[in-house]
Amino acid sequence: MNYAKGLQDLDNEVTHAPLQLISGQVPPWLKGTLLRNGPGRFSLGNEQLLHWFDGLAMLHRFHFDSGNVQYSNRFITTRGYTEGMEKQKIVYPAFATAPNYSFLQSIIHWFKKPESGQNPGVSVARLGSEYLALTESPAIVRFDDHTLSTDEVIDCDDEVSGEITTAHPHYDFANKYLINFSLKFGRQSEYIYFKCNNNIRKREPIGRIPVDLPSYIHSFAMSERYIVHVAFPLVANPLRMRFGNVPYIKCFQWKPERGTRFTVLEKSSGKIVKQYQTDACFAFHHVNAYETGDDIIVDMATKPDASVIDDLYLEHLRTCQGRPVRAHSQLQRFILPLKNDEIRQETISQEYLEMPTIHYRGHNGRNHRYVYGIGSYQDRHEDFENQLIKIDTDTGTHVIWYEEDCYPWEPIFVPAPNSSDEDDGVILSTVLDSKNDQCFLLILAAKDFTEMARLALPHIIPLGFHAQFFSQS
Ligand code: CO
Repeated sequence: MNYAKGLQDLDNEVTHAPLQLISGQVPPWLKGTLLRNGPGRFSLGNEQLLHWFDGLAMLHRFHFDSGNVQYSNRFITTRGYTEGMEKQKIVYPAFATAPNYSFLQSIIHWFKKPESGQNPGVSVARLGSEYLALTESPAIVRFDDHTLSTDEVIDCDDEVSGEITTAHPHYDFANKYLINFSLKFGRQSEYIYFKCNNNIRKREPIGRIPVDLPSYIHSFAMSERYIVHVAFPLVANPLRMRFGNVPYIKCFQWKPERGTRFTVLEKSSGKIVKQYQTDACFAFHHVNAYETGDDIIVDMATKPDASVIDDLYLEHLRTCQGRPVRAHSQLQRFILPLKNDEIRQETISQEYLEMPTIHYRGHNGRNHRYVYGIGSYQDRHEDFENQLIKIDTDTGTHVIWYEEDCYPWEPIFVPAPNSSDEDDGVILSTVLDSKNDQCFLLILAAKDFTEMARLALPHIIPLGFHAQFFSQS
């Protein structure tokens, strides 16, 4: 149990390094690029960033062609990184770390110059021909998908701008729109859903959800016709957020008496068609949503409460011997009837599930059967997520990939050419092998999780967040 090896700074950057096979063979049909985002550094000089989510953003690129894989990695060089490295101290506010600011400075840095909190280390997206690195503050970084150079900080200042957004936009393949929301704080705060077609700078509002106390919302779900917006009872004090000198996440409080509030927004009209309330829970990640008859099905990886955020402070993670890491969550299905107000809820599997993914291109917004993710082997509550899992939502059964002292992260499904089955393809993951002090790229057959190949990486990549595979076509 030594996942803390995945929470150390990585200074090494490599360019187009061919990866050596440890075993197996890379499927020759796999052509394209896996781009992964996550933390690369947790310290600046003598100063420590406090939380796993605060690490300075680094991109990783795995390029697949004819059975070979090339790897590159590079820091995102926004001012948060360059000024921090130059001054050897924390210069801009992060998710859970505040620089030593005066009251006035904190206002200036977080709100007057929204680009300044920039550390887009959570996810990647492609819109039109542009590759984007995202986080929850609104500034977006455009980067070069070949060299990984940081090319532009895009700071949209328009009618849908807000102070907070998500790093999990959805792509509506039928209408060719990227959809996301901004959270705008004010006397009457509101979530503003917006869409953009091929250009992140041209955003149009879809609809607005007014809110008294805004929730911390990391993602949302989308069916063919509806946006499903779930507000957990981890709620902000907007005034504290606007004017206080406290790290972002410290502005939120757990208020379970508020319950979990679902809002269904129609994409075409922007109208709120339904709102529901159910028991308190918390989730970072929605899996998917789809319509069936008069119901909307929403799958999420939920936890009973938001204590996971405290457990992901680096000090806790690095010293957590035998103490539970409450990052664990389970696959829950919420059934929202469009004709009445009673939400039904089912636990699809008792297994732990985080960083859930599906065959996104084929099933986002539509009926999915298989959910992939990371989980915890044989209920080792005290350990970090240490296995890959595939859950069959029809049967509740699962298959796993596990190896002692290994820590895989977010599995990405890539369909095989001309595939017909939902799970005909491969799973790509990067794995920290703590017993051998190395990381490897793992390729599994998505159907049964048999191992197809593993390739050695030139260094240990800090445990990271989200990736996407972009096929060559
Ligand atoms: Co996420």
